[in-house]
Amino acid sequence: MNVYGKHYRTIWLKDDDPNVVQIIDQRHLPHRFVVEDLTNVDEVAVAIKDMHVRGAGLIGATAGYGMYIAALHAPRTSPEAFMAAVSADGDKLIATRPTAVNLEWAVKRQLAAMSAAGDDPEERIQVAQNIAKEIADEDAEFCRRLGEHGKSIIKEISERKGGEPVNVLTHCNAGWLAFVDYGSATAPVYAAHDEGVLVHVWVDETRPRNQGARLTAWELGQHGVPHTVIADNVGGHLMQHGLVDVVIVGTDRTLYTGDVANKIGTYLKALAAKDNGVPFYVALPSSTFDWEKRDGVEEIPFEQRGGEEVKYIWGQTEAGDIEQVLLTPEDSPAANFAFDVTPARLVTGLITERGICAASEAGVLGLYPEKR
Ligand code: MRU
Repeated sequence: MNVYGKHYRTIWLKDDDPNVVQIIDQRHLPHRFVVEDLTNVDEVAVAIKDMHVRGAGLIGATAGYGMYIAALHAPRTSPEAFMAAVSADGDKLIATRPTAVNLEWAVKRQLAAMSAAGDDPEERIQVAQNIAKEIADEDAEFCRRLGEHGKSIIKEISERKGGEPVNVLTHCNAGWLAFVDYGSATAPVYAAHDEGVLVHVWVDETRPRNQGARLTAWELGQHGVPHTVIADNVGGHLMQHGLVDVVIVGTDRTLYTGDVANKIGTYLKALAAKDNGVPFYVALPSSTFDWEKRDGVEEIPFEQRGGEEVKYIWGQTEAGDIEQVLLTPEDSPAANFAFDVTPARLVTGLITERGICAASEAGVLGLYPEKR
């Protein structure tokens, strides 16, 4: 997507040095556009854990490139030593964030490809570089395709409204910043907007890290999509007054049974949507499916982050400085549950790169019969 008119992806190899991976350090957005170099696995792990990069698809792509960096630094003394080192680095990366399934998926895909390559370390490094690029390209292409499928939902509503703007509500950032390009929840919006359909997005601020207010608002603005940032608790009120036509969110892990893990607060939006007859869609590339677990509430590991993210808030002062301020009484403890589960029964449909399906085992396996 475009940043100040120039095309960017969220992760790439440095032009003049393919041993360096470059990312957009999202902690500085929307006030600063900062590109960061990643040169070793520890830096990659910190970038994921401290959320320089975030969002399921981008976490997966970063893990893919992280494994390439791991291969570059692995000992060449023997094939066994090489594989033991990259495998230990893979464990380090997997431990950074527990909820997004794409992370483990990317690490395992890299390990399988490197083990299947010959014993020559140079060949394994080349394979790891190719797979990292493949994961990133696939992520972008799957998001582009799911955008085409999801566009039909927005167009249908637009026709029903006689061309009046379609009001989409989204939570957190499941935009291109959460993937390699296009995004998941935003891909149908961009596709419809680019075709001239009038769309307006209600952007949940998404406390405590404000991915909606900081990131979704910024990227929609960069693409010229009309949007309004709202406080997290506004959605239900808007739905009661007919001001939301459809909710589209992303997901960090969706079970093949249809349960959806996503940023904390998604569940409450789904409840409000159900109560008000507003369709609630979840957009995801297939890398975000969990093909093993059946019960979202019981089985998905949920990340709890430090309470300081709730107690403090970052922003830009009038003088243009970026500062953090304390929001709560200094001594009040704070809890920071990062994700929740929206049960399948509240989800109208899943928008994937293969089409739209019901959020159920039959619906998902109907689109992905090879997973039966
Ligand atoms: O904690 P984050 O910013 O990595 O969480 C991202 C989300 O939960 C988003 O809502 C998103 O939908 C998932 S993005 C693939």
